[in-house]
Amino acid sequence: MADDQSPAPPVARAPITMALETTAFDPAARDNPHTRLAALRESCPHFRDEVAKTWFFTRHADVRAVVNDRTLARHPSNVEEGSHSHFLTVRPPGLSKSFQEAGSILFMDDPDHQRVREPLARAFYARVAAMKTRIEGVVDEALASVTAPAFDLVADVAIPIPILVIARILGVEEHRLGEFREWSEGAILGLFPLKSEEQTRIQVAASNALDDYFLELMAARRIAPQDDLISDMVRLQAEGAPLSDAEISINLASLLIGGNLTTTDLISMAVRLLLTHPAQLAAFKADPGLAGALVEETLRYDPPIDITGRVVMEDRTLAGCPVKARQHVMTSLRAANRDPAVFPEPDVFDIRRAHTAPHVAFGGGAHICIGAPLARIEAAAALKGIFARWPNLRLARAEAEWRTLPFFRGLARLDVVV
Ligand code: HEM
Repeated sequence: MADDQSPAPPVARAPITMALETTAFDPAARDNPHTRLAALRESCPHFRDEVAKTWFFTRHADVRAVVNDRTLARHPSNVEEGSHSHFLTVRPPGLSKSFQEAGSILFMDDPDHQRVREPLARAFYARVAAMKTRIEGVVDEALASVTAPAFDLVADVAIPIPILVIARILGVEEHRLGEFREWSEGAILGLFPLKSEEQTRIQVAASNALDDYFLELMAARRIAPQDDLISDMVRLQAEGAPLSDAEISINLASLLIGGNLTTTDLISMAVRLLLTHPAQLAAFKADPGLAGALVEETLRYDPPIDITGRVVMEDRTLAGCPVKARQHVMTSLRAANRDPAVFPEPDVFDIRRAHTAPHVAFGGGAHICIGAPLARIEAAAALKGIFARWPNLRLARAEAEWRTLPFFRGLARLDVVV
């Protein structure tokens, strides 16, 4: 019989208590999120986080079912009080008029989501197709500006390439590229919970600067159209597409914000994975035509975005769980991508892996990443270019230095020697 001197009996508990503990917010998960996610996927695949007030799903089949379910909502105002995603409904004071009137497609529901996404996607995909043949030139331009024998591949290569590409698609003036990059880095802070006051101030200033800039360019393009996406969007509006100026401005900014950090992380992650997996590197060098497969395997193995979410609109059963109306469901894209039920030997990084199931790095359903085709083209061109220019590229030090932003996993820096 237990007395006061007895050791406490083992307590059965969930391996983690909060969804945030699977992200870079927690130092252990920042260095390796996979151990915790695997434990959840195996022993607790539908876990209700009472702190963040969200369900947390980790199995591939459940994640796919949720992201593809078009009856689920996205707008954070649908979510129960106290849920972590409520922070997204709070607009920090001082945001420009556009942000009071409009939002990104990322958080819209139908019919507005479809109304805004359809013309935007139509114009954007035509621009991506036209850019395809010019992307190698942009990559070469970015790589040529690196002349040092040792450098940080994140800062010098993986950050500039996506910015240059999206700036050319949008039609940003070259002499404003520096500011544009600064605004993009500031505005993405809007997606992070737990911001400091200083970060919020930076987010507001950068978002407003971007909005002013896009509104100004839209006005200029109405008078003198150019060969760019801003001109396409104002033309579509003039031809009757039901889009307000604020919606165009915010969603052009969404293309910028949604695409930069993520594509940067994809490129630098793929380089690091190759440099730490010599047989894969040899295979890629022998056949650069594997660039597309390398991109897909990197997206599966360590995707740039940890999670996406949806809101349940009525009491129902989801993945066998009794989910109530207004509850939030977070799906772990990272855990789903390592699910052994669909990916044999999921922890092996293998660029020649047979595709047994689609990875979910880009989410799915109505909100599937609008930038996926561009990210794929850019990353493949960047990876081909990097290893063609620097065939002897190697890591300057073995340890990885991860960023600490929750929900976006990426390298803070990647020191390399050519
Ligand atoms: C490797 C790079 C990228 C990754 C991993 C990524 C991932 C994602 C994910 C997970 C979502 C949410 C999907 C869902 O909820 O089902 C998303 C949405 C979105 N992404 Fe990306 N993305 C990437 C690149 C880009 C690029 C290059 C752009 C733009 C140029 C972009 C713009 C957007 C936008 C605007 C949305 C919202 C779409 C909607 O809700 O309808 N992303 N992305």
